[in-house]
Amino acid sequence: MRLAVYPGSFDPITNGHIDILEKTSKIFDRIIIAVIHNVTKQALFSLDERVELIRESTGHLDNVEVDCFSGLLADYVRTKSACAIIRGLRTVSDFEYEMHMAMMNKRLVPEVDTLFAMSDSNYIFVSSSAVKEAALLGGDVSSLVPPVVVRGLKEKLCGR
Ligand code: COA
Repeated sequence: MRLAVYPGSFDPITNGHIDILEKTSKIFDRIIIAVIHNVTKQALFSLDERVELIRESTGHLDNVEVDCFSGLLADYVRTKSACAIIRGLRTVSDFEYEMHMAMMNKRLVPEVDTLFAMSDSNYIFVSSSAVKEAALLGGDVSSLVPPVVVRGLKEKLCGR
């Protein structure tokens, strides 16, 4: 069983993340999307909300599931007996940070490799922060995030 972990904040999940999942779910038998519980990063969506948005957005991918983690990613992937960590690469500027993270994780958990998937050119400019900022300022983000996230953003931002 080839199990991979796709970690991130996913605040919220975007079509860029879905694109990475659609590609990599063909390679692995099972993928766990691991949503980080990061107390130092101020999130728009709560952990439970992020998990629910991911669940609803990835229903078409049979071998993809969602979980949460805190602490070291290396510890989490070891407890799951994963063989790989998935990361998306959008532009060259992602590379340096990602390379350092991959090397550190390899040192911490040598049996697990990081697999990089290239983002589709439609999504290389997409980030969760950019989506939130555009939505907050009244921009139409419906081509960048799943419909359930569009609704979630509207509900969040109406209350502000
Ligand atoms: N499409 C669209 N957006 C993407 C994307 C893609 N393919 N890939 C990344 N992004 C966006 C994310 O939405 C995020 O946007 P934001 O900064 O506006 O929120 C941004 O790129 C950065 O993403 P990422 O690098 O995945 O950061 P993250 O905070 O989501 O997750 C962890 C980073 C969780 C993987 C990392 O911090 C971690 O492993 N933490 C655990 C502690 C640990 O083990 N530390 C040692 C690591 S060596």
